Amino acid sequence: MNSINKCLIIQLPKIQDPRGNLSVIEAEKHVPFKIERTYWIYDVPGGQKRGGHAFKKQNEFIVALSGSFDVHIDDGNNKMVYSLNRSYYGLFIPAGVWRQMENFSTNSLAMVLSSTTFDEEDYVRDYNAFKNRNYDE
Ligand code: TYD
Repeated sequence: MNSINKCLIIQLPKIQDPRGNLSVIEAEKHVPFKIERTYWIYDVPGGQKRGGHAFKKQNEFIVALSGSFDVHIDDGNNKMVYSLNRSYYGLFIPAGVWRQMENFSTNSLAMVLSSTTFDEEDYVRDYNAFKNRNYDE
């Protein structure tokens, strides 16, 4: 289990240009892990929540590529909320932190970079098990 203090807002390069701005993420340079997978969440109906689990091994980096949403993080002792609303910064969340995304704006686009390939076994979906550390690592 990791403390929410290990979560980190990382500002990405923003190359400003009259033709339109450009930002970039390189693995192990702008995010502290090798990127194994990218997925994104979009077309979220008003009021819906995504996430609501922790990972045993997966580190991740979440960026609001478009629009805005809130990321609630919880290490079992402390909670915090980060609002993401710019495409040139994101939130690093290490394994072992409960997280939930909510308050999605219309047409928001959440991009998640992951340090692992998809593995359902890596999910901790039971909050009580998470809080009591009652799950197989
Ligand atoms: P899940 O991670 O549970 O979504 P959320 O945390 O936002 O509620 O994933 C939803 C479904 O999509 C689940 O059945 C697993 C599947 N899925 C994949 O097949 N591959 C992936 O990389 C991800 C993230 C999810």
